[in-house]
Amino acid sequence: MSWISWDALEKMPELTKEEAGRALDAACSQVIRNLDQFTDHFQKAYSENGFYSPTENVDWTPGFWTGEIWLAYEHTGNEALKKAGELQMASFLKRINEKQDVETHDLGFMYSPSCVAGYKLTGSRVGREAALKAAEELITRFHEKGQFIQAWGPLDAPDNYRLIIDCLLNLPLLYWASQETGDPRYKEIAERHIHTALSNVIRPDFSTWHTFFFNRETGEPDHGATCQGYRDGSAWARGQAWGIYGTAIGYKYTKRESYIPVFEGVTNYYLEHLPEDLVPFWDLEFGDGDDQPRDSSSASIAACGLLEMAKYVEPEKGALCRSLAARFMKSLTEKYAVKDFDSSNGLVLHSTYSNHSPYNTCNHYGVDECNLWGDYFYMEALTRMYKDWNVYW
Ligand code: GLY
Repeated sequence: MSWISWDALEKMPELTKEEAGRALDAACSQVIRNLDQFTDHFQKAYSENGFYSPTENVDWTPGFWTGEIWLAYEHTGNEALKKAGELQMASFLKRINEKQDVETHDLGFMYSPSCVAGYKLTGSRVGREAALKAAEELITRFHEKGQFIQAWGPLDAPDNYRLIIDCLLNLPLLYWASQETGDPRYKEIAERHIHTALSNVIRPDFSTWHTFFFNRETGEPDHGATCQGYRDGSAWARGQAWGIYGTAIGYKYTKRESYIPVFEGVTNYYLEHLPEDLVPFWDLEFGDGDDQPRDSSSASIAACGLLEMAKYVEPEKGALCRSLAARFMKSLTEKYAVKDFDSSNGLVLHSTYSNHSPYNTCNHYGVDECNLWGDYFYMEALTRMYKDWNVYW
């Protein structure tokens, strides 16, 4: 295997604002083409042979499809998109009212790009009610012993007393809920979770654990473990990207200066483990020459994190963050974005959801396919490059 050198990184051109706008035009036309099939239904988490099939409002991922609809609405002003977004927010309200499949920390992934976004864009009361109820549900997963929000499963499950790095992106829902209601409970829990997460999932070399267990009796940190990475001790490419975007968001809300070196550390580790075209393999253990699938969604997530953090750091560092993000997006738009809409109904190819290895605990699906968050964050990064965007998170 080999990873990119800094020289090679600098040789990758940056995507320009005009190119970002054109890529966004293309993505929006694909979203609009998909409305017939995916207004009453959502896209499944991942494509099969390049095509998403319709699903009910289940799983942790449908909010990304609604988020794509809102981003496309922002870019085009097309009223059909607004109508579809409104219908889908009603579905999210039903889901939280009926508590269907909400026993998870992923309520932020579900409700921020769908309902918070719809509320911010259109003032929807349905979106507001749904997102506030989701925030209320999310804080029930906070454990005083250990000071974290439990990721998966029932709260009394004997084998799941853990957080996962992805959760950093679920917390903006809580900050929004506190801003909206004036009730500090939500953001206080978010802040405590961020502190626990960043104190434990970041290793000394700034690679990251996917999941981290705590002792149920004492709350003491116990051990890290991977689920979707290649092995314990490697850095799952998407987990590292959640770490980049997650620390940027952590800084946005807390303004804790100690999070800046964490952001720089996890970003540097990521950069040092990229292949030549800047789109990582599914685990950062792998590089050019390894016969492994990519995770293009990781590059889009990292680009969004860089573009968010660019707002807060000193101008020189901000320019570097923007430049890196623009290089990631150049590679994604040129080599990974769907160009022929008859060959796929997604936006970005070569992403990996869950790749089973002899050393991890995940099931095997969505390998080298499109996936919903890959498509969503690709559009978000392009939007961030194209205009001054009012963030959904
Ligand atoms: N948050 C789950 C994943 O990234 O696969």
